[in-house]
Amino acid sequence: MGVGPLAITPNMRILVVGSGAREHALAWKLAQSPRVSELFVAPGNAGTAHIATNLPVAANDIAGLLEAARTNAIDLTVVGPEDPLAAGLADAFLQQGLTIFGPAAAAARIESSKAWAKELMNAAGVPTARAERFTDLRAALGAIYDASLPIVIKADGLAAGKGVVVAGTRDEADQAVRSMLADHLFGNAGHEILIEEFLDGQEVSLLALTDSEVIVPLLPACDYKRALDGDAGLNTGGMGAYAPVPLVDDAMLQRIRREILEPTIAEFRKRNITYRGVLYAGLALTASGPKVIEFNCRFGDPETEVVLPLLKSDLAELLDHCARGVLSDAPAPEWESGSCVSVILASGGYPQAYQRGYPIDGLDHLPEGAVAFHAGTALDESGHTITSGGRVLALSSRGATFPEARTNAYAAVEQVTFTGRHFRTDIALRECRSR
Ligand code: AMP
Ligand code: GLY
Repeated sequence: MGVGPLAITPNMRILVVGSGAREHALAWKLAQSPRVSELFVAPGNAGTAHIATNLPVAANDIAGLLEAARTNAIDLTVVGPEDPLAAGLADAFLQQGLTIFGPAAAAARIESSKAWAKELMNAAGVPTARAERFTDLRAALGAIYDASLPIVIKADGLAAGKGVVVAGTRDEADQAVRSMLADHLFGNAGHEILIEEFLDGQEVSLLALTDSEVIVPLLPACDYKRALDGDAGLNTGGMGAYAPVPLVDDAMLQRIRREILEPTIAEFRKRNITYRGVLYAGLALTASGPKVIEFNCRFGDPETEVVLPLLKSDLAELLDHCARGVLSDAPAPEWESGSCVSVILASGGYPQAYQRGYPIDGLDHLPEGAVAFHAGTALDESGHTITSGGRVLALSSRGATFPEARTNAYAAVEQVTFTGRHFRTDIALRECRSR
């Protein structure tokens, strides 16, 4: 790339916002860029402390983050979680003339209101599950009575990934509707609900960078949301992931781009809403083609922990161009061949009540090629890494093949121990059986 007004900012000082394994993976990849001179994470965790300066500012403290960006002369802020985006973090930065990767609140609505997202998809002709919106309990219960099963009940707003119930029986559906509309389980987020058609098919996450004009898809990935093997147990923030997804070949990728990503971004433009950041499409590959289950306005977790280890290109260059609205000037991302598998180590009891504060051993003895992205970790007074959250670590490994990546990721799992450690044993197994 040449010099001139559109060239990359040199000696970039970057601030990553968030504290999970996704943010550790972002910081880890950004730290490898020769263009990055200083890296900060707010608030970060024990893992990011090794590669960046952690700032004691919460991810949703907009005023604090603005102050941190000014004080540390930050050139680019990269936002991990959705909550601050929905609350207007990007808007506040843009108003101050600061460069930020992550959409403004009006665009983040694609995640923060499922009803609005559905309306946008319908207007854009994007294939998705048929859905009806309800605020009235009686009307919603009536709709369930007529529906075919399974049926999906969703709270409209942000509910930390817990606002979706896939009901196999009418009783379950009835209970879900009542919990949201009568018992207000999700507060305002469940004031309005969607009752929607169940989409049958392999789920795939496709994350794409976009500056509202250009769309650059990253590698497709699959995540595992349920707590236990065989997709049993409760929904979690994610128990593992792998990339790429063999089912998404070039033809499928082109189809997703043409039928889903392009019309969605075009619809934003039509509404004069600028979308700069990651558009995350959660898709079901159904018998009648790819359909959107949901959109998110940010990087996926744990998808990021398997996609970024496969990225050969400079992440800072890509994100900086995207945030400045000149993504077309960035070289197309290049990818390592092979696969990446990530296994989450969680605290015993997660996603329900769990203990924290247990020492973590073995982090210094990871097998070659494996990397530990920290999620819920902290340092105790003696500098030892301890557990401090439900999801504790994402252990990722690349490999020439899925079996190789998977074997190596589980070899890392064997090394890293703490009291009550819980993980799934079947991450990426389906890709090892089928080839
Ligand atoms: P999330 O909104 O990330 O908590 O997603 C909840 C999960 O529920 C998704 O990953 C799907 O597995 C499932 N889900 C949501 N909507 C549908 C749908 N219409 N059809 C099938 N599964 C769905
Ligand atoms: N992996 C699911 C999410 O990031 O929402």
